[in-house]
Amino acid sequence: MGMKVLARNMLPTELIRFKQTGKTITILTAWDSISGALVEAAGADVVLVGDSLSMVILGHATTLPVTLQQMLYHTQAVARGFTQPINKQPLLVCDLPFLSYQCGEEKAVASAGLLLKESYAAAVKVEGAEPEIIGVIQRLVRMGIPVMGHLGLTPQSVHRIGYRRQAEDKQSQEQILSQALALEKAGCFSVVLEHVPDSLAEQVTKQLAIPVIGIGAGKSCDGQIRVTADLLGLTSKQPPFSPPLISGRKIFEETLKEWIQQQHLLGENPTKQKSQQEPDY
Ligand code: KIV
Repeated sequence: MGMKVLARNMLPTELIRFKQTGKTITILTAWDSISGALVEAAGADVVLVGDSLSMVILGHATTLPVTLQQMLYHTQAVARGFTQPINKQPLLVCDLPFLSYQCGEEKAVASAGLLLKESYAAAVKVEGAEPEIIGVIQRLVRMGIPVMGHLGLTPQSVHRIGYRRQAEDKQSQEQILSQALALEKAGCFSVVLEHVPDSLAEQVTKQLAIPVIGIGAGKSCDGQIRVTADLLGLTSKQPPFSPPLISGRKIFEETLKEWIQQQHLLGENPTKQKSQQEPDY
C-alpha cells in the first residue's frame, strides 16, 4: 500500500537554504480560492494570508478589526484554491491578527495552533519584537509552530506609528537591526521588513542568517513580498512602495460595463434569439 503524502516538501526552514544559495524568495498574499489558485499558478514560493485582507478585502480602515476566525476562514479558502498535490504546493503562512497573540503566550499558542490544526497553514507571522513578543515567538517555536517576524511598518501598530516610512534616523535604524537579530535568536525562520530605508534593509539582510523579505525596503533583501491586490491594481489606491503592475480594477469595471451595455442592447432588439441552446455547465 502506498504511503499517503500529508505534508509539503518545503519546510519553512528551507527558505534559509534559498538565502544560502542566492535564490530570490517570492511571497504573494491571497485571501480566497481564486487568489490562492492565481498565486500558486504564478509560482510563488510562499503564500501569505495577510491580515491586510481586513482592509483590501473586508473594507475596514485598518488591519485591527479582522478576527482569528476570519483569518482561519480565509486561509481554508486559499488552500482550497491550490491545485497542486500538497507536497508541491507553496508554503502557506497565515498572519496572527491583532490581539490573538499580544495578550500572552498561552493565547498565542492557542491562536496559532488553531490555524495550523484547522487549515493547511504551516507557519504564522507576528509583528514586532518587544520583549513580550520575543517570549511569544520562543514559546510558539518550542511548541512546533514556525514563525515569520515582521518589522518596520507594522500595520497593527498604526495608532502608534501611522503608515509612515520607519527607521528614518540612526537610533531607530540601530533598534530595527537589534530587533531583527533578536527575532532570529528567538527562532523566526524569516523576517519581513516593511517600508524602511534600502540601506537599512541591506544591512539587516547581510547580518541575518535567516532570509529577510522586503516590501518597500529596496532590492537587496533575500526576497520580496507584495499584497497581490496591490500588484494587480484591484485596490482603490496602492501604497507608494507597492505600485500596480496592471490596472485590474479599471479592466474589470470596463469589462463588466460592456457586458451590461450588451444586455441592454439585446433587450432593445426585438429579433434577439430567446431560445438559444446553452452548453452544459
Ligand atoms: O498583511 C500583509 O499582507 C502583510 C504584508 C504586507 C507583508 O503583512
